[in-house]
Amino acid sequence: MKIVAIAGSPRKNGNSTSLMRLAVEGAQERGATAVVFSAKEMNVAGCLACGSCKRAADAVCVQNDDMHAVYAEIRDSDALLLASPVYFYGLTSWIKQVVDRCYALMPFEGGPAGEQPVPRIAAGKRLYVITTQADDSVFYGYQVLSAIAYGMTWIGMKPAGQLIATSLEEPDDWKGRDDLIADAKALIAV
Ligand SMILES: Cc1cc2nc3c(=O)[nH]c(=O)nc-3n(C[C@H](O)[C@H](O)[C@H](O)COP(=O)(O)O)c2cc1C
Repeated sequence: MKIVAIAGSPRKNGNSTSLMRLAVEGAQERGATAVVFSAKEMNVAGCLACGSCKRAADAVCVQNDDMHAVYAEIRDSDALLLASPVYFYGLTSWIKQVVDRCYALMPFEGGPAGEQPVPRIAAGKRLYVITTQADDSVFYGYQVLSAIAYGMTWIGMKPAGQLIATSLEEPDDWKGRDDLIADAKALIAV
């Protein structure tokens, strides 16, 4: 079982990245392997909507940046874990760039009429999401979850679990939350 984990917060040791690390560590203790990325530390541009990735079944994104390493790791993995704070009721801009660029992983549908879409990645990879926010209403975290899950389902992933963490504001706030620490460690079934 291999996990690709991508942190969407600009804070290196803030709430979402720390809970993501705990989720990865918990899975590793149960035998998983993991590759971890930080969206802020990567060079990933926004999707240009150029349509190049839609032109052929083997077409790839024309932007030559770090997203190609992410594509390769996603193809080689069994699960994707995305972590994002809630920013203005949505994803952070850092992780949004990465999510939008997954457009290049959608099935190719440009074949002859009647032909089935050609998948770009194996179907059924598991999707896990962690969100953190200052507010105490889980609604905002679920809003982020649904924004990610709809798109990732489209490319063939299967939502498998989430941790919607509320009432976290300062970067160390997670440290006082034994409930979230336990939930993060148990998030990914191996
Ligand atoms: C630009 C910005 C926008 C934010 N917007 C929201 C928001 O809409 N709702 C909310 O509950 N918290 C909001 N917050 C607070 C963060 O979601 C919260 O501090 C979160 O725990 C940060 O996660 P991190 O420590 O992983 O960076 C915002 C913070 C920033 C910096």
